[in-house]
Amino acid sequence: MRSNVKHFYIVAILIVLVTAAIAIALDSVQLLPQLASAQGVIIDWLFGIHLYLIAFLFALVMVFMLYSIIVFRRRPGDESDGTHIHGHTTLEIAWTIIPTIIVAYIGYLGVVTLHSVTASSPDELTVQVTGMQWSWRFDYPEFGITSPDLILPVNKPVRFEITSSDVIHSFWVPEFRMKQDAVPGAVTLLHVTPNLVGSYKVRCAEICGLQHATMLADVRVVDHADFRTWAMDEKERLTASESPDARGALLYETQGCKACHSLDGTVVVGPSWKNIYGSEEQLDDGSTITVDEVYIRESILDPNAKVVQGFSPNVMPSTYRDILSDQDIEDIIS
Ligand code: CUA
Repeated sequence: MRSNVKHFYIVAILIVLVTAAIAIALDSVQLLPQLASAQGVIIDWLFGIHLYLIAFLFALVMVFMLYSIIVFRRRPGDESDGTHIHGHTTLEIAWTIIPTIIVAYIGYLGVVTLHSVTASSPDELTVQVTGMQWSWRFDYPEFGITSPDLILPVNKPVRFEITSSDVIHSFWVPEFRMKQDAVPGAVTLLHVTPNLVGSYKVRCAEICGLQHATMLADVRVVDHADFRTWAMDEKERLTASESPDARGALLYETQGCKACHSLDGTVVVGPSWKNIYGSEEQLDDGSTITVDEVYIRESILDPNAKVVQGFSPNVMPSTYRDILSDQDIEDIIS
């Protein structure tokens, strides 16, 4: 009996040591990128709890198993039966109740955390986020700005109103620690207070087609003065774009054209726009067509009507007929 107690002491010490070793190893891996939002503090704390719990459970199972295999292995010449064991009620009740309490407590922490990170504050900056195949657009209704980049003032709570113009995307800035689905026909919310000046990336976290992996947008968290300057400049740029080609260039940036059509001749998903106007294109049915206003308009409104050879049909969303006005299309052609 006394030697049994000795085994438990040894196993307990080993579990503590292995838990500490795994926790230190996991900590050193830097699983998460730099934290840049106020809401992320509690999320990282929860994440940390889970890592330590994982380290402990792994140690618990592995130490008991390996210790038993090594210390209680059959010695040469030992042909006797092992001890017959018929369960241990107290132990079984304990290993059912204790994990239940731990899991319920983590569930409680999850609910409390979710409640705190989804709470809105009174002085929020509203940013409307639109995901599209395959880019992002950011509208600042308080400033009348539309931008392909996400510029945010530091330490200012932001209310993101998120939607999609085609399929389901997911708005995700890893440094902010939270993500939210962008669903066509619905507006989903995300509340973030960026608290670290820096440059980050919006990523799409929902598989959404060919260019899903490159559906990125620049995020710049700047101080308040820089944000004001940017907003003023941007506003000026928008009101100055009175010529059709300037407006068209802006639409190219903000309506997702640039995700698939390059301006420098690089072929991404769709044909490059370099020197496209007036060119002769071979279509996938073998006929040729001259790229003129009629053809461009048709390709925007009904992308599958005439597909250029070498490109896949059904790639370009047919949603632009609802998104772009006649004037927009004329500006883009211009
Ligand atoms: Cu949009 Cu993946």
